[in-house]
Amino acid sequence: MDFKRVAGAIGAEVSGVDLETASSEQLAEVRSLLNEHEVLFFRNQPLSPAQQTRLARVFGPLQTHPAYGTVEGYPEVMILESTPENPSKIEAWHSDMTFRQHPPSVTVLRGMLIPEVGGDTAFASMTAAYNGLSKGMQRYLEDLVAVHDFAHGFRESLAEPGGRERLQSALDANPPVRHPVIQTHPETGKRVIFVNSLFTTHIEGVSPLESREILGFLYQHCVQPEYTCRFRWQTDSVVLWDNRSTQHKPVNDFLPASRRLHRVVSEGDRPY
Ligand code: SIN
Repeated sequence: MDFKRVAGAIGAEVSGVDLETASSEQLAEVRSLLNEHEVLFFRNQPLSPAQQTRLARVFGPLQTHPAYGTVEGYPEVMILESTPENPSKIEAWHSDMTFRQHPPSVTVLRGMLIPEVGGDTAFASMTAAYNGLSKGMQRYLEDLVAVHDFAHGFRESLAEPGGRERLQSALDANPPVRHPVIQTHPETGKRVIFVNSLFTTHIEGVSPLESREILGFLYQHCVQPEYTCRFRWQTDSVVLWDNRSTQHKPVNDFLPASRRLHRVVSEGDRPY
């Protein structure tokens, strides 16, 4: 197995491993590369849904999503699809499913249908972003808790005709949750910023103005180019990211083309 870093703070392209048949030693190496580089890119890995779920299980039990469609027979394999008739609504930088008490630790995303031009995914290191804060700001954020809400992330879908009815059971099953603004990564022990503009609604215990301004600052701070990298997909590319220490954003610049990916997530610990 070989790897090449793709940017200063985050990301490595890995070669010389077949994820379909990888041995437990190779998977342990993948895990350790993931802890170090936070997002890993693999080419030419035509994983079936069964193989993709097997890979994701290496990082924890699988989680399902309350709103996304899934591959028949594989409730854990979510279909992320954007078409001219139904373009993607995910625009914001985010970590996946932070509206859960136990947000995913690792996401495994496979490219199925990739536009000829555009549709990259950008990633940002929340470890590098934390390290880029002043000591005073790190101390200020240390004890703060933020609220994350499914309803906030899916507000556009909820506002569509029939949206509330369609998503009612997801809403019922996913009330707002509280997570520390600064999380300790359970494997590396590193500190990471753990708020995102898709699901975080506010910081508790401060005025609405302070919450808005601090979150606004963090959202801008976290995605400075120095903390990011960007991946150009091909069909059968597979990307693994550490959902605890990164944020990502699909770049929706490919209309009228369509784009489809299969996503599987492994459940993580409760952030602390
Ligand atoms: C996601 O938000 O999990 C998917 C990212 C992408 O579609 O590039």
